[in-house]
Amino acid sequence: MAEKRSSFTGKIGFVLAAAGSAVGLGNIWRFPYLAAKYGGGIFLLVYIILAVTFGFALMVTEIAIGRKTGTSAINAFKTLDKRFSFLGWMAALVPAIILPYYSVIGGWVTKYLVGFVSGQSKTMASGDSYFDNFISGTAPVFWFLIFMALTALIVLLGVEKGIERVSKIMMPVLVLLTLGIAIYVMTIPGAMKGVIYYIKPNFSNFRVETVLAAMGQLFYSMSLAMGIMITYGSYMKKEVNIEKSVRQISLFDTGIAFLAGLMIIPAVFVSDNATLNKGPGLMFVTLPEVFNSMPGGTIIGILFFLLVIFAALTSSISLMETIVSIVCDKFKLSRRLSCFAVFLFCLIIGVPTALGYGSLDFIKIVGMQLLDFFDFISNSVLMPIVALITCILIGYFVKPSKIYEEIEINGSFKSKPLLNIMIKYAAPIFIVAILIFSLLEVFGIIELAPILIEK
Ligand code: PFF
Repeated sequence: MAEKRSSFTGKIGFVLAAAGSAVGLGNIWRFPYLAAKYGGGIFLLVYIILAVTFGFALMVTEIAIGRKTGTSAINAFKTLDKRFSFLGWMAALVPAIILPYYSVIGGWVTKYLVGFVSGQSKTMASGDSYFDNFISGTAPVFWFLIFMALTALIVLLGVEKGIERVSKIMMPVLVLLTLGIAIYVMTIPGAMKGVIYYIKPNFSNFRVETVLAAMGQLFYSMSLAMGIMITYGSYMKKEVNIEKSVRQISLFDTGIAFLAGLMIIPAVFVSDNATLNKGPGLMFVTLPEVFNSMPGGTIIGILFFLLVIFAALTSSISLMETIVSIVCDKFKLSRRLSCFAVFLFCLIIGVPTALGYGSLDFIKIVGMQLLDFFDFISNSVLMPIVALITCILIGYFVKPSKIYEEIEINGSFKSKPLLNIMIKYAAPIFIVAILIFSLLEVFGIIELAPILIEK
């Protein structure tokens, strides 16, 4: 790989590209259902605290590692310390677990878009039953294939640049639309109770899982602990300020997640069908009801799901691109063949996942459906472990001063003490503690009191 690495055109280019990868289904689909399920305001509070401390420190570190070593995750860790080369492989495993089920959800969104376009908005607004019938049939396989094929085609043809250009217009429109829908939802009688549930922390809802779920979501949403930000950092020019860029990316990412929650959670309170415990289906149950009650709701629904598909595609492309480039490099395959191999792998994992709520719902791993299991193993197990080992590597072997040097290439680095404490002490202790707790709980060794949530 002697060729010169391409780089982003300046500061805005980097921030937008990283934000394009960060903002996706994680913000719009995943964040609201986790916030609903794990205690509302208390989840939001824990998430924000983690984002400005731990998320910030880890993103700065990953980008600095990438820019310093000038290479993607697999080689970056090896360059820093030979004994840690396994970490690159572990990080690379994460996108491979996420992509198939990400595309299953992408398929659900595609189905809802087509439903709105073909005038079925009324039927789709019948809530729970419509969604449950849909995911328990075989149709999700078809929609998964469509979304997956679209992702693979774009990666194969290499038109991401075009997609990125389009998403620069689509993203601001998505923000405005989400804001507009959130404001509309808040005016519906009864919705204020939901706004309060979402915004006001209720400390009696605090659980260890709240922290684990918030931390997993943080990694997922900011594309951390999976090597992506290292690769992005390797494309970053030396004159761009890492600290500032990270602040902008995380503000954007958290802002969109917050708005999505403000749109979906109060809607649960005015819905006859949705419950806070609905899980992955929450967005698909509440939003059609909201659109149905709005003047011009069909058009708004079409526009909304179209924008979400774009946000999802920019993310799924970056997931697939990462895996394809690793397969290309490591197995010396052509790009075409690598794309095909990755596509095939996604089908093998994705088809059963798409059927996981239907004909294959008897398959349960540690009590979870396939989709929930893949989500759990990547977000709540692998990513925390990758983050933990990255902290140990940087904190005790490479030393944080190497990270400071890279950041200080252009100006002073104000958050040195924060990064030092986070990477060396707070994050490792904290991750180990909650990993142990949650594993004990998953395997039924300890039982934590459930969160009592009512509308
Ligand atoms: N951060 C994306 C989201 O929140 O939807 C998910 C993701 C996309 C993770 C791309 C990793 C990645 F490379």
